[in-house]
Amino acid sequence: MSDTAEMTTPAGTDANAPSVAAPSSLQVRVRAMRWEASGVLSLELSAVDGTLLPPFEPGAHVDLRLPDGTLRQYSLCGDPSDRSHYRLGIRAVGGGVSSTFVHRRLRPGELVTVSAPRNNFALEDAESYIFVAGGIGVTPLIPMMRQASADGRPWTLLYCNKRDSDAPFLDEIRALGGAISLHSSEAGTRLDVEAQLAGVQTGAMIYCCGPEGLMTAVEEATTAWPQDAVRFEWFAPRSRADEGASGSFEVVCNISGLTLTVPEDRTVLDVLNDAGIEVPCSCQQGICGTCETRVVSGEVDHRDSILSSAERAANQTMMTCVSRAKAGSRLVLDI
Ligand code: FES
Repeated sequence: MSDTAEMTTPAGTDANAPSVAAPSSLQVRVRAMRWEASGVLSLELSAVDGTLLPPFEPGAHVDLRLPDGTLRQYSLCGDPSDRSHYRLGIRAVGGGVSSTFVHRRLRPGELVTVSAPRNNFALEDAESYIFVAGGIGVTPLIPMMRQASADGRPWTLLYCNKRDSDAPFLDEIRALGGAISLHSSEAGTRLDVEAQLAGVQTGAMIYCCGPEGLMTAVEEATTAWPQDAVRFEWFAPRSRADEGASGSFEVVCNISGLTLTVPEDRTVLDVLNDAGIEVPCSCQQGICGTCETRVVSGEVDHRDSILSSAERAANQTMMTCVSRAKAGSRLVLDI
């Protein structure tokens, strides 16, 4: 018998489940819940039969499906070397329906479902790291800091919160041994992103996760850095001023041989699934990466919040739940 819990594909009997293909998933038990800061709970999830959970790398996230049928992505913020459980950090305010359910209704002992870990925010090897976190956005960065310390790489955390006392997991992060700079809007010690990050540090990488204002400020301050040296994790779709309507266009499915028309008011994902071509999906907002599909030819109008500008320019994959064809282009997908 395997000592690793087995991921299965659910039959989709949940009335709230999306009508499209769901990723493989695993039922787990809430083994502990703990306050990590004001308004922030951590959940520890373990396999029902006590076996080890599938491995994950720093930066990975899972889809969490709750007993009320809601589904949302959360970063894995525990220690990747301890596969006895997954740990998630969940903020109550502003976190949406799932987070509210966790805080108000979910209790230790209950069963929930998680997807296989997925990583759009992998930690690359670098000489040093700058981690920039806004509040609960620190969660994907914690395993990265742990890894950087284990690898002997110097790192700095620029940690922004309303109050320093609101900073989740702070004691745990302090024990990891990096340099921590706390920034609090209430104390008037807001992070000066430009002053801290505009100067390129050769060999360093920046990893940033937090609210849109912080991410945009970091993006704007780091334009002189090599494109690949600055990475972001979006947990809500980023707003884009340039996203107008795009008309209908054709998608050619290279493997099945089907040619489909995507109307202006529908997504590529919907049209593929209606035609019987199952593309797994989860967030349907361009933030989780589940529906990523290889592009053979055609120009993609990328509307996701995952791909870097270099990956967009390479035009090798697209998120079919949000991205479309550029005007006048026909997409050929490897599907
Ligand atoms: Fe999440 Fe498309 S389903 S990116």
